Amino acid sequence: MHEDTQEITDLILEATALARKETSAEPEPDLTRAVRWPVECTVGPGLEGAIACESKVGYVNGTKGWLIYRGYDIFDLCAHSSYEETSYLLLKGKLPLPPQLSSLKHRFTEYRHLPDVKRLLMSFPVEKMNSMAALRLGTNLMRQKQTYRDQNASGPHLEDATSTDEDSIPMETQPRGERSAVYEFRGKRHQRPKGVERGLRGAEGLASCYHIIAGVSSIAGAVARLREGHLPIEPDPNLSHAGNLIYMMSGRKPTPVEERVMDIALILHADHGMNASTFAALVVASTLSDIYFSVGAGIAALNGPLHGGANEQVLYQLEEIGSPDNVDEWFDAARRQKRKIAGFGHRVYKAYDPRARILKPLAHYLARTNDRARHLLEIAEVLEKKVATSFGDERGIFPNVDYYSGIVYGALNIPPYMFTTVFAVSRTAGWTARLREYLRKNRIFRPRGVYTGTFDREYTPMEDR
Ligand code: ACO
Repeated sequence: MHEDTQEITDLILEATALARKETSAEPEPDLTRAVRWPVECTVGPGLEGAIACESKVGYVNGTKGWLIYRGYDIFDLCAHSSYEETSYLLLKGKLPLPPQLSSLKHRFTEYRHLPDVKRLLMSFPVEKMNSMAALRLGTNLMRQKQTYRDQNASGPHLEDATSTDEDSIPMETQPRGERSAVYEFRGKRHQRPKGVERGLRGAEGLASCYHIIAGVSSIAGAVARLREGHLPIEPDPNLSHAGNLIYMMSGRKPTPVEERVMDIALILHADHGMNASTFAALVVASTLSDIYFSVGAGIAALNGPLHGGANEQVLYQLEEIGSPDNVDEWFDAARRQKRKIAGFGHRVYKAYDPRARILKPLAHYLARTNDRARHLLEIAEVLEKKVATSFGDERGIFPNVDYYSGIVYGALNIPPYMFTTVFAVSRTAGWTARLREYLRKNRIFRPRGVYTGTFDREYTPMEDR
């Protein structure tokens, strides 16, 4: 191992030791045993406390500040694993043997290569788009390719499309109201392909998961490049998933330290229980829509500033504060205006988020050689202390994953508008693992809303209103 990356591993091991001293790993009985449906639970607004499903993929203990993927502690995975290995673990439930890991890497290399999708993506004004909107668009363009070409050899191919407008994307079906489709497929009307579309079991389903995980990272790379006015670049088959992500976004080969830090960031964002974006993805999957639409829904939900979008907001917040000396005044004003402090608080964690325990020392490590990161970190630390003293431990408002991740990403030269996109790239492993698992015992999600409106109103014609 490279000398500097060993130092990073040592930092994680230190954070692990501290976390284990300060927290105890005790599962919550009601949240760690098989559910006997119908389940009794107390549900608050925003479905707080509701049990949506069982899962063996991962567990979050919010009282203790504990995050588990398939039985493995996040600290151990960050210290010893890689994103590729963690993806295999999340999807298959066990750590891979060498040939299994090498096969996964081979598939990732193959699926990162998306020239047609990137070409289609470039027909949109990506440079003016929100990066998450562009990522979602790219994911749906991947669907176009995958469902028609990769999964259904006998079906119509993109090459078979007859174009009346070279700049348009091929249409799946004839658009309603148009006299003729922009692209029409020669041959028979397409049948729903097996595997990818129907469910996600078996080899075909797994291939779709790998396609999403690898492909979405490649789309993110293209989005970053297009936003900066550059052409997307091809992935490098000799780089890891983390290394490729940096390379495809920046066009620059990462240093071993950058690659290792990105790898850790990818691992610790890979899964996180039944959060809003995972739930959104599951709701879509439960209708037997397909994995691309489901992951697209996850991307859309993650974008919000109350969820994954907070990492970008944290950076703007620190910039707005400007100096550690301004923290008190800024905080008091924010409280008076009843503003939420970005990067603090969590629906589940009422203890220090274990992911922030890992990201904080990484931010410190990178700040040693990065003035801007050092400046932001100084403000962040003063604000953290201010929040802790103002709210007190009993309120359970601690830094969450998004608080220090922005400083880390910034030190890796990732622009702020890509922070949430990088988060989404990591989360594809958790989304796909949970979709695959849920579809094995699928039941469509369909909660009820309580009607609090009126009845018996008489319809008034327009002219009498
Ligand atoms: N700043 C100030 N007060 C807060 C914060 C915060 N960041 N978070 C929670 N609180 C307070 C609320 O004002 C509320 O106080 P009250 O009871 O006096 O009204 C109480 O704590 C409960 O907060 P809710 O917003 O009801 O908690 P909820 O579980 O609905 O929301 C959330 C959780 C959205 C994460 C919230 O803490 C928040 O808005 N944080 C800031 C945004 C953020 O950092 N999001 C990223 C979360 S991590 C992730 O999604 C990847």
